[in-house]
Amino acid sequence: MPTSLPRRAGGAVTTALLAATMVTALSHTATAADGTLGSAAAAKGRYFGTAVAANHLGESAYAGTLDREFNAVTPENEMKWDATEPTRNTFTFTAADQIAGHAQSQGMKLRGHTLVWHSQLPSWVSGLGASDLRTAMNNHITQVMQHYKGKIYAWDVVNEAFQDGSSGARRSSPFQDKLGNGFIEEAFRTARTADPDAKLCYNDYNTDGVNAKSNAVYTMVKDFKSRGVPIDCVGFQSHFNNDSPVPADYQANLQRFADLGVDVQITELDIEGSGTTQADNYTNVVKACLAVTRCTGITVWGITDKYSWRAGGTPLLFDSNYNKKPAYTAVLTTLGGSSGGGTPTPGGATCTATYSKQEEWSDRFNGQVTITAGSSPISGWSTTVTVTSPQKISTTWNGTPTWDGSGNVMTMRPNGNGSLAAGTSTSFGFTVMKNGSSTAPVIGACTVS
Ligand code: G3I
Repeated sequence: MPTSLPRRAGGAVTTALLAATMVTALSHTATAADGTLGSAAAAKGRYFGTAVAANHLGESAYAGTLDREFNAVTPENEMKWDATEPTRNTFTFTAADQIAGHAQSQGMKLRGHTLVWHSQLPSWVSGLGASDLRTAMNNHITQVMQHYKGKIYAWDVVNEAFQDGSSGARRSSPFQDKLGNGFIEEAFRTARTADPDAKLCYNDYNTDGVNAKSNAVYTMVKDFKSRGVPIDCVGFQSHFNNDSPVPADYQANLQRFADLGVDVQITELDIEGSGTTQADNYTNVVKACLAVTRCTGITVWGITDKYSWRAGGTPLLFDSNYNKKPAYTAVLTTLGGSSGGGTPTPGGATCTATYSKQEEWSDRFNGQVTITAGSSPISGWSTTVTVTSPQKISTTWNGTPTWDGSGNVMTMRPNGNGSLAAGTSTSFGFTVMKNGSSTAPVIGACTVS
């Protein structure tokens, strides 16, 4: 059975990160458990994941957004062959372990990406003869999978083995050219032995609609299922833009694979664009997954446009300042979640936290957060302010702060009586020492207490 780590309890709060020049309000009810992508997806029996790069985990806004919103992780590059076995039989897992450890500590699912792929393949592999290559492939699969045994929900065992276009042929690669068509089956059989509990996926792009390439993958999966070759899932990368839009038959394509008896997963979703057009496209993808019972989860290919592999196309759900984009709200809403919006849930009071930057000097700036009660009175509130290291908050006023271990996350509560009549406001302030960085702080959702 696949390993499945439950999302930690109580992790669902809605937060917003605000650009320095923007004033944005979000609200959150203490009872709204579906206010994040991960919790809303979980309520639908699915995960909502993201690709993660180990070298950004030290950035508090990056890690904070990851931990708040997502309940599954795929290492963007760290588990690939060039990262894990750069020299034959010398395995390096440091960066991948960092991501795996982070995911485990947060109760997130971990997708393994990827074991056999023609790209990011060290040159020593391409130089091998057939017999040696077979040994090296099976050894690589075995060593990497055994290292992560018990920690991986699903592995992309083979990635991108088919050609684009109308041929339906396999792509030329050292594996294909020297081992022939049978390398895919061999890789899956080796993978099942190495970690019988991980789901084993075939993953590809331009297979998102019904076309010659997806037909070829479909034929292979059907053949594998009929002959008992171990395969549990098919990953649809779903990298979309104007030249490669979300296909009209996306859901039908997912469904026909699911009908073969495999899970389907959206594994690398990103959609270039902006505003409502981008939001509508994301909506269609999420709707398609929700409509297919065996679509077990969605992974976006990065948290923020800032670090996207195609940042120029702004394809992700958070902008480069970690603000939620319209696409984020569309995804959350389609998943059945709610970011509050100031409307109280039955029996629940709400508040909003609104940030505005105040004075700025060369070495520091002042921020102000206004707390406003929703349409019911509240007797207490709290919110968080997260700054990006090496920034530090040096002073606060009109509130009672507490700090996390890193010193980067401040939780602010009222000074004395926190009561606010319906619709009324109070505010607190703080000074951020820039230490070279003018990044805007992340203001957490306002929680009624
Ligand atoms: O880390 C080095 C850095 O030290 C160096 O200075 C820099 C200069 O080129 O390169 C950095 O490595 C880059 C790496 O991303 C990390 O940023 C590589 O050059 C670059 O090739 C690599 O790109 C990755 C790409 O796969 C490689 O094919 C992208 O991050 C990653 O998002 C992308 O992911 C793939 C999936 O694995 C499979 N499906 C398609 C998807 C998008 O291409």
